[in-house]
Amino acid sequence: MSKIVVVGSIAMDLVTITEQVPETGETVFGKAFSMVPGGKGANQAVAIGRLAPKQVSMIGAVGQDAFGKSILDNFTAQGVLVDEVGTVPETTGVAQITLFENDNRIIVIPGANKTVLTDTWMSEWDIIKASQLVVLQNEIPHESNMAIAKYCQENGIKVLYNPGPARETDFQMLPFVDFITPNEHESRMLLPHLSLEEALAKYPNKLIVTLGAEGVIFHNGQSIERVPAIKAEVVDTTGAGDTFNGAFGFAITSGLSVKEAIKFATIASHLSVQKFGAQGGMPTLEAIKEHEQYEKTWYFE
Ligand code: RIB
Ligand code: NA
Repeated sequence: MSKIVVVGSIAMDLVTITEQVPETGETVFGKAFSMVPGGKGANQAVAIGRLAPKQVSMIGAVGQDAFGKSILDNFTAQGVLVDEVGTVPETTGVAQITLFENDNRIIVIPGANKTVLTDTWMSEWDIIKASQLVVLQNEIPHESNMAIAKYCQENGIKVLYNPGPARETDFQMLPFVDFITPNEHESRMLLPHLSLEEALAKYPNKLIVTLGAEGVIFHNGQSIERVPAIKAEVVDTTGAGDTFNGAFGFAITSGLSVKEAIKFATIASHLSVQKFGAQGGMPTLEAIKEHEQYEKTWYFE
């Protein structure tokens, strides 16, 4: 049984790199095209699989198509257990990504990810029950996230919830999760009536807001703390948040404090943005240990 279970989306990322974005009715030539595995849930599972091979299980769905098959092979190669990934008649989820200067624009077609519904899932509850941490995001139905978070709370299993892309129902998850990791936009959607400072103070050691180049902020129970980002030669920021979440979850289950886990995850996402693709550049534990900001007091079994 695995320590961490990720329930979430799986996709093939169809990435176009271009120097020009077409206007309505216009055709332009792009620079390059790649197909790489992605999907927020899958990315977070792979981030954990790289750090701790075979200690993470993915629960989700792919289609009966070529994308589905190559994604399952990729999971296995990256140390993610796939016994609970279903193959369904819908097409595999797809993300159409345009990389333009330092910007990325993404259109997600959920496909098989829409079928990740808890009422069809009696056997998967057992693997959730045996885990220490469940990781959720917003590319599967909200009702599934709610049912899983409630189940975890009743059974004493920690939940890390990454509310991306933002949905209006996200606030309903708050009472049932241990950690919630929005970016600035998602945190405004989540708690529209509070300033960032008020929101952080209301959920100490639980609300962790990622601010990209500005680092990560949270409230430690006494005051607001900021863990700075580490400067990098950025190649592709796609999946940087997923790397952060996966690494944070791994660090928490390894016994690090919230602040230490944020620092650890900051190193992981710093390494990931230097390589192309959502999963490209996600580090192994050895790679993190070699980083100059690795702290010698951190201990991993
Ligand atoms: O968070 C990055 C991911 O979001 C991409 O891999 C893409 O699949 C989109 O869902
Ligand atoms: Na990357």
